[in-house]
Amino acid sequence: MRTHRIASIPGDGIGKEVIAAGVEVLKACALRDGGFALEFEHFDWGSDYYKRNGVMMPADGLARLKPFDAIFFGAVGAPDVPDHITLWGLRLAICQPFDQYANVRPTRILPGIRTPLRDVADADLDWVIVRENSEGEYAGQGGRSHRGLPEEVATEVSIFTRAGVTRIMRFAFRLAQSRPRKLLTVVTKSNAQRNGMVMWDEIAHEVAAEFPDVTWDKMLVDAMTVRMTMKPKSIDTVVATNLHADILSDLAAALAGSMGIAPTANLNPERQFPSMFEPIHGSAFDITGKGIANPIGTFWTAQMMLEHLGEQAAANRLMKAIEAATANPALHSPDLGGTARTAEVTAGVIAALA
Ligand code: IPM
Ligand code: MG
Repeated sequence: MRTHRIASIPGDGIGKEVIAAGVEVLKACALRDGGFALEFEHFDWGSDYYKRNGVMMPADGLARLKPFDAIFFGAVGAPDVPDHITLWGLRLAICQPFDQYANVRPTRILPGIRTPLRDVADADLDWVIVRENSEGEYAGQGGRSHRGLPEEVATEVSIFTRAGVTRIMRFAFRLAQSRPRKLLTVVTKSNAQRNGMVMWDEIAHEVAAEFPDVTWDKMLVDAMTVRMTMKPKSIDTVVATNLHADILSDLAAALAGSMGIAPTANLNPERQFPSMFEPIHGSAFDITGKGIANPIGTFWTAQMMLEHLGEQAAANRLMKAIEAATANPALHSPDLGGTARTAEVTAGVIAALA
């Protein structure tokens, strides 16, 4: 029997609740399939760990994660720890050294979900946003001088490398090519950002030549928000920089009905390091501990993880179970306008799996 070893890092806030639900569902998937087993090891890293130890994860954290087949991640962020510490101390501290440069964010309007697009003609959407996940605006380059003085200065420098842009373009073109419509939109802002973004456009042209069967176009990021809202069906696969895709993927999640549904994979496509899977919603301290967090985003994330592990049949079964759950209004959590609790949604998905 195949065994996949998963490191689970629930992190902060509702991360703990949704990852617990996700582990339950994943175990049910393995049981239902019968062909593979999942072995979990749980790591209590995050903001509580930080308050006890002064660091978000231990110094040998990466070495401990390295042997796993995948990482199942909840959320980071706490009201009493600065966000840049939680982010750089854990999430980016894993993504960047493990070279998880391709962040993949699928969006669909699942059955039974009410979308704010309901008044737009032809309002269906089936998108995958590819987010550059290793450099760009999140490169961490910059600094502050003359702190506290009137002449204080801060720089936040975006880094675009030919290697980094080329590999994410190839990844996005290949993904677009694998989907029925073979359609890619390259998001840019080369009218205003005349260095990095102009190189980004040039590399898009170069890589496009390797994929003659992919139809592609270029959109300025601001105009892209309008197109996503007004002409959702004209879009299929999207590639954008780290920050642009961060923003567009929140919009995508909202347009698909709720942040509580959207999944993410942080992929190291070469598989030199484990990839990391997480729902895109954050730690949501306003609803932490109430048992009402929507676990659907985590289940869809788990589905992406099963796919990555090569368990396609189990992944397909899980997606069907998720769709069966969203189609049932009795299983809608408060973010979807319902009253279902995390545990009820979880039980519903497990029942549908059987
Ligand atoms: C995301 C999140 C993170 C990001 C936050 C938690 C820093 O918004 O995964 O989209 O900006 O990358
Ligand atoms: Mg975001």
